[in-house]
Amino acid sequence: MTTEDARNIAIRVRGVTKAFAEVQVLRGVDFDVEAGTIFALLGSNGAGKTTLVRILSTLLKADAGTAVINNWDVVSAPGGVRESISLTGQFSAVDEMLSGRENLELIARLRHLKNPGAIADTMLARFSLTDAGSRKAAVYSGGMRRRLDIAMSLIGDPPVVFLDEPTSGLDPQARIDVWQTVRELAKHGTTVLLTTQYLDEAEKLADRIAILHHGTIIQNGTLDELERLLPSTTVEYVEKRPSLEDVFLALVDDTTTSDAGTASVTKGF
Ligand SMILES: Nc1ncnc2c1ncn2[C@@H]1O[C@H](COP(=O)(O)OP(=O)(O)OP(=O)(O)O)[C@@H](O)[C@H]1O
Ligand SMILES: [Mg+2]
Repeated sequence: MTTEDARNIAIRVRGVTKAFAEVQVLRGVDFDVEAGTIFALLGSNGAGKTTLVRILSTLLKADAGTAVINNWDVVSAPGGVRESISLTGQFSAVDEMLSGRENLELIARLRHLKNPGAIADTMLARFSLTDAGSRKAAVYSGGMRRRLDIAMSLIGDPPVVFLDEPTSGLDPQARIDVWQTVRELAKHGTTVLLTTQYLDEAEKLADRIAILHHGTIIQNGTLDELERLLPSTTVEYVEKRPSLEDVFLALVDDTTTSDAGTASVTKGF
């Protein structure tokens, strides 16, 4: 590895394979993620996204290949990897019997950080959960729970963040809130690897997009690069109508967000 690579590449994956019994899920996965960027791993149900994330976060051993996170090898230095990452899984790690604040405090204590109460308050504020902080997580909406889950995983400011399907099951506004959170992370230098089945999520968030299909990365590039893979289409003139997403977002939210597209829709038609 050259010095330049060591400085810029936060996640390096080479030739990773994994089979479960006779099912060969990963057949040689290769990619790099530059530090401070958002990398989206796209794939259908069962493509192996969660399997790969579990390998990169040391929860599962690959059959072959190497993965280096923040300059730590997942096999020879799993402790270094764990200290460098956070993982928000496809299924929530929130303890429903505890309040939002208690969940955050618990993680701060487990990470041996000073002032867990103050850390919890900061995270509640950062994720717009201050008002709900003392309520049990069991009564949170899906979007609130997901934000709490992400907040919990970010305690201690890990340089590399894995988000496995961060917005599945969320309504459009909650998805945009999570996207904003992810953008903020990358803006502050955190490297984000997210998996998703939503093409628009990858389109709106990611610096680079990789497509995992039949166990390998079949394409990896910026949105522009991926779009250029298709032959240019014939130009047609059509009346532009707002998408359902534009209309929905305009109706449910008074504040116009950059993702909402068309801004003005008259309420109450
Ligand atoms: N522990 C396991 N034992 C056996 N098979 C497994 C195990 N974990 C995953 N698999 C299989 O590996 C394949 C890939 O699963 P994985 O969960 O990685 O897919 P995914 O891309 O995350 O899908 P989804 O979009 O549905 O979350 C599936 O066929 C799954 O059944
Ligand atoms: Mg999955």
